[in-house]
Amino acid sequence: MSYLFWSSELDTGIKSIDQQHKRIVEYINRLDDARAQGSRQLIGEVIDGLVDYTQSHFSFEEKMMEDAGYPLLRGHRRVHQMFIKQVADYQQRFEAGEDVAEELHSLLKRWLFNHIKHDDASYVTDVKASMQDLETDSGEEDGEQEGWLARNLRRFFGRSSG
Ligand SMILES: [Fe+2]
Ligand SMILES: [Fe+2]
Repeated sequence: MSYLFWSSELDTGIKSIDQQHKRIVEYINRLDDARAQGSRQLIGEVIDGLVDYTQSHFSFEEKMMEDAGYPLLRGHRRVHQMFIKQVADYQQRFEAGEDVAEELHSLLKRWLFNHIKHDDASYVTDVKASMQDLETDSGEEDGEQEGWLARNLRRFFGRSSG
């Protein structure tokens, strides 16, 4: 077992992003659990859920960087795409019957922490400077004017909080 724990150096300070990153860490830990239980069915379910959630997170994050006018968006998007492709390769190998859980787990762990600490950390200043309403928007208000956060959580995660 090699559980991942959240540490403050992973915090971006953007609440919705930190919540999403923590959720991805939970998925990685669930993959470790499934591997320890040796259940292929469970491993498959966790991989599918992780890929799905990570793709939603990337789309949300890319929209946020785009709306913030972040100049390094293109490179960041390419890094996301390459990662998704890498994980999709593991997903295919898993479906072909290979035992990939351990290798995939260590890739996820290395990649995610590295990406959050470096690539994601780079957009924080620009995003905070140009999107002041990001944090004040609870995503659950009843008003007619839906804020950026509520709108995009619904768009990318199919619900208004997350
Ligand atoms: Fe990212
Ligand atoms: Fe991220």
